Amino acid sequence: MKFPHFWTILLPLYCSNVINAAPIEEIEEEHEKPFDLNRIETLYSFGDSYTTQNLDLLSMTYACANCTSAGGRNWVEYLVDLHPMEYWNLAYNSAPISNNLVGQNSTTVTDVTTQITSLFPKYLSKASHNPYTTLHTIWVGINDINLTADWDNTDELDEILMEQYKVLVEYLMIKHNARQFVLISVPPIDRSLKWQIEGLITITKIKRRVHDFNKKLKSLIKHLHSLFPGHYYLYDAWDTFTTILDHPEDYNITHTTDYCPDWSFPVENNCSSIEQYFWYNDLHPTYKIHEYVAQDLYKFLKIHSSNE
Ligand SMILES: *[C@@H]1O[C@H](CO)[C@@H](O)[C@H](O)[C@H]1NC(C)=O
Ligand SMILES: *[C@@H]1O[C@H](CO)[C@@H](O)[C@H](O)[C@H]1NC(C)=O
Ligand SMILES: *[C@@H]1O[C@H](CO)[C@@H](O)[C@H](O)[C@H]1NC(C)=O
Ligand SMILES: *[C@@H]1O[C@H](CO)[C@@H](O)[C@H](O)[C@H]1NC(C)=O
Ligand SMILES: *[C@@H]1O[C@H](CO)[C@@H](O)[C@H](O)[C@H]1NC(C)=O
Repeated sequence: MKFPHFWTILLPLYCSNVINAAPIEEIEEEHEKPFDLNRIETLYSFGDSYTTQNLDLLSMTYACANCTSAGGRNWVEYLVDLHPMEYWNLAYNSAPISNNLVGQNSTTVTDVTTQITSLFPKYLSKASHNPYTTLHTIWVGINDINLTADWDNTDELDEILMEQYKVLVEYLMIKHNARQFVLISVPPIDRSLKWQIEGLITITKIKRRVHDFNKKLKSLIKHLHSLFPGHYYLYDAWDTFTTILDHPEDYNITHTTDYCPDWSFPVENNCSSIEQYFWYNDLHPTYKIHEYVAQDLYKFLKIHSSNE
């Protein structure tokens, strides 16, 4: 096993953020209001390439609407269409929960820990932290699994990852008054071409990793409910992806097992229209799938909203 020295990462976070926490009673008193989607004015998103729009931190602007991994706009943008709100998307390509925990040596990857504990306070301290008008989303796990695909015992690792995930949610709650969260499950990446070409043993292994990670995420949500008052929702992207992959015809998707090798030359490569593809490349879905995810997530939020 190749465990990094994870305590050096976890402990400082616990000490600086959790022990200095506001008394629980204060938080409890605040939490009287049910979730109301109509009141949400600001969205904060953290995660990886599935979420990023390449926010430029110097100007705090997005380079473009299509600056995503989807060949078009992504789920955050579609969600903002459905429910207009200000959105700050700090997600970063290739981000795991914590670089150190999964042996990510590249210093150029801004992991979710850095997004939440460093970039968020630094660049968004003046943005709204009203607990009832803000929504926080975290979609992470794909790179954690990729980077540890050949590790032997990942059960303990997943526990450690979830512990860090919890620390990050607590950080937002305690330091930034966050009370409303959507945590998103890892999609069935075992069905992406990146893993499909690796053969059955690896595919099965990745499928199990995804399953185990999502199961632990589900437990984390339950645990958060028991720890702190707040609205914690698990949005099951695994389920959404699986439904579309299993019934592509219902979504006008005709390609689920291949992708266009070069979208700059679709004709030369005999590619169909991009809207007919599930996968944009070997690991990322097309904007069409992002649109379906946003529609489904919007429906999910409406169901949980007290005013719908
Ligand atoms: C963004 O992507 C969509 C979908 O591929 C495309 O129709 C649109 O022209 C693109 N916009 C720009 C400005 O490139
Ligand atoms: C990071 O560095 C360690 C030690 O040199 C190495 O074992 C590991 O494979 C590297 N990880 C990646 C993702 O390159
Ligand atoms: C997956 O991990 C490997 C290292 O194990 C790395 O080389 C590769 O870039 C990663 N792929 C993605 C899509 O993050
Ligand atoms: C699929 O395409 C048909 C014909 O263009 C359209 O009527 C239908 O609404 C589409 N379905 C979805 C789910 O987009
Ligand atoms: C595209 O289809 C044509 C006709 O079927 C074929 O001759 C050609 O080799 C194909 N090109 C590629 C890149 O697959």
